[in-house]
Amino acid sequence: MTDIQELLLSRIRDVADHPEPGVVFKDITPLLADPAAFTALTDAFAEIATRTGATKVVGLEARGFILGAPVALRAGLGFIPVRKAGKLPGATLSQAYDLEYGSAEIEVHAEDLAAGDRVLIVDDVLATGGTAEASIQLIQRAGARVVGVAVLMELGFLHGRPRLEAALDGAPLESLLTV
Ligand code: PRP
Ligand code: MG
Repeated sequence: MTDIQELLLSRIRDVADHPEPGVVFKDITPLLADPAAFTALTDAFAEIATRTGATKVVGLEARGFILGAPVALRAGLGFIPVRKAGKLPGATLSQAYDLEYGSAEIEVHAEDLAAGDRVLIVDDVLATGGTAEASIQLIQRAGARVVGVAVLMELGFLHGRPRLEAALDGAPLESLLTV
């Protein structure tokens, strides 16, 4: 494990039985409160944005907003929010996806993405991959290309990686930590 990975891991708090019994919640608020760790994370993501030739950073509500916005600024790129349904005021594209129980829907402002845009998707956690997969579909439907997905942490036991790699068509899935 690198020094940066050790720093990041040390600032993620495991919270047992949240939000429901049996689930161990990965709390990133200690990392956000530590400027050295938050800067190291931002720099690592910005390097991925530069390496993949991204022209836009998409952050996934809500924790992907916190992590993605400074990455966009650091890399000199625009930031685009993918929001949970019903929040964006303009003309939107929507994408529904299945959860373990029920379904969810995310949206993006259609005018924010154009053919020729190269998008890096940023989020905190890759779990089942459902949210990230739906965001890939949304961005592709807007005519843009997804050049990568960058997450702080991948929960390997939920097998999001094979699902996402199928949707990414050769573009990289970069996780800084696997737990
Ligand atoms: C969490 C997490 C990821 C997503 C991963 O978001 O931040 O966005 O779940 O799960 P998946 O890979 O199974 O789709 P959530 O919507 O629970 O909360 P948030 O609004 O705090 O980001
Ligand atoms: Mg989230």
